[in-house]
Amino acid sequence: MRTLSLTLAAVLQVTFFAVLHEAKWTYNGPEGEHHWSKHYPFCGGVFQSPIDIQTDLLRFDPHLRPIELHNYNLSANEHLTLGNNGHSVQLSLPSRMFLSGLPHRYSAAQLHFHWGSANTPSGSEHLVNGKRFAAEMHIVHFNSDKYANLSMAVDKSDGLAVLGVLVEVGKFNPAFDQFLKFINGIKYRDQKVKVPGFNVRALLPLRLDEYYRYDGSLTTPPCYPSVLWTLFRSPIQISPKQFLSLASAVYSSHAQESNSVSLNANYRKPQLSDHRVVLVSFKEGRGLHGTRTVTSPLVRKQLIQQLLVGDLADLADEGLYQLLPSGPDMPLTADKKWKDHNNKQGPKTHHVNLKKQLLHPLKKSQKNNRNVGSLGLPEEALCFVSLERQVLHRAKQSHTEAQIVHALRDLVFPELNLRSYLGCKSELDLSTIRHIIRRRPTDEALELDDSLRRASARLKKRFPSAASKKGVPTTTYEGFSNAARPAKSQPQGYPHPWLLPMEWED
Ligand SMILES: *[C@@H]1O[C@H](CO)[C@@H](O)[C@H](O)[C@H]1NC(C)=O
Ligand SMILES: *[C@@H]1O[C@H](CO)[C@@H](O)[C@H](O)[C@H]1NC(C)=O
Ligand SMILES: [Zn+2]
Repeated sequence: MRTLSLTLAAVLQVTFFAVLHEAKWTYNGPEGEHHWSKHYPFCGGVFQSPIDIQTDLLRFDPHLRPIELHNYNLSANEHLTLGNNGHSVQLSLPSRMFLSGLPHRYSAAQLHFHWGSANTPSGSEHLVNGKRFAAEMHIVHFNSDKYANLSMAVDKSDGLAVLGVLVEVGKFNPAFDQFLKFINGIKYRDQKVKVPGFNVRALLPLRLDEYYRYDGSLTTPPCYPSVLWTLFRSPIQISPKQFLSLASAVYSSHAQESNSVSLNANYRKPQLSDHRVVLVSFKEGRGLHGTRTVTSPLVRKQLIQQLLVGDLADLADEGLYQLLPSGPDMPLTADKKWKDHNNKQGPKTHHVNLKKQLLHPLKKSQKNNRNVGSLGLPEEALCFVSLERQVLHRAKQSHTEAQIVHALRDLVFPELNLRSYLGCKSELDLSTIRHIIRRRPTDEALELDDSLRRASARLKKRFPSAASKKGVPTTTYEGFSNAARPAKSQPQGYPHPWLLPMEWED
């Protein structure tokens, strides 16, 4: 009896845990992707995956090394678990398989697939210039330098690295048959079979040096923004028959359920780019014409060092070009998308007024004082501009006291931008430059201001269309010169008019 009640307690606990942490989700219907964020708030957050890899988001980065795979050739004596989890077909991988050439060592955990349906061989998650491939393979790795296992790493900003491989229907692929031949053993949800190890390298494209790299998320709930994505440029091929066995052999329902539900079309729609830049390791083809080289991490650090303690006059003379935003090569589309998205939620005037209200809190003070509360943001902001907008929007919604909004803008955002800049994840924002040199001697700071103003005017003359694009970080330089006008009133705490909060023009 005692044993029974203990068992019952254990079962109840397990069930409770499952209910808490695994609300049902699907790709369609009432639990479909538009509703994921109800139970999984990160799915409605920023830096989500997949994305449509569009040419104008790309920046060539010469520092991206070929991906190096270690211990990927598994022996047939080693048994792997092939399973149907109701959302995908998944193969477990031993953690001695790992990647190098990334900021940390990432050990393998599993690989799985996303695919279309039998009559629609179009089910990849990532799109390349709007093109959806037949299927996509994800090889999931966790940061084993810092975390003990996948579950410890999954919600950390530097927790995961996933290799994405696009799959086309074409030639027969012998490597795929190493596990596909067992697929009838896992027709139903929660079924598992053991399969002999094989050379997992053979599932990947030949070229591991050409890929897209960006910061994103799990593409399924809970959608944590914890993934360093590597999507290989070359697709691999599987035969029509092999595609069909993925697309029609498995069910998302349990064996005992009377209504079998086919497991297919298990891909998430592309997410907003949120001002992210996609780095590319290769530089060729018409599409990439004009893509700028991203500043190297070393140069970025030197630049910050110089802003902090170096000679600002020197920087004004020589290092200036590095401070300036990239002009016409900024990912304008990303910004436009964000705006379009925003405009759908309300008329533009609303957005403008909102921004004015938030950024000029002294003119219009909000009476209600409610806490900002949990912002639900990833631990490390990857992209300054969209983050800033989102937080300001939420602050406004919660009628946050004007001073808090002000402090967020002056203290928190520059820090976040600085961090993401150093991590090569965004451009250096003007307010961040200000933040950094706030304690520097005023005449040096002024000289830098002067040079920046002249240089940005030159940039505007050279690329008038880019400079006139609204909402792009380049326009902040207009604010720069406005703020430098001594006529503006000076709130306390700013040593010089030049360091006044900038005007935001929409
Ligand atoms: C993988 O390992 C097997 C032995 O386990 C060996 O015969 C085979 O040549 C290896 N394949 C590659 C591509 O290194
Ligand atoms: C992961 O590691 C943590 C910490 O070492 C441990 O408590 C947990 O049980 C492990 N989880 C799994 C699934 O192995
Ligand atoms: Zn996946």
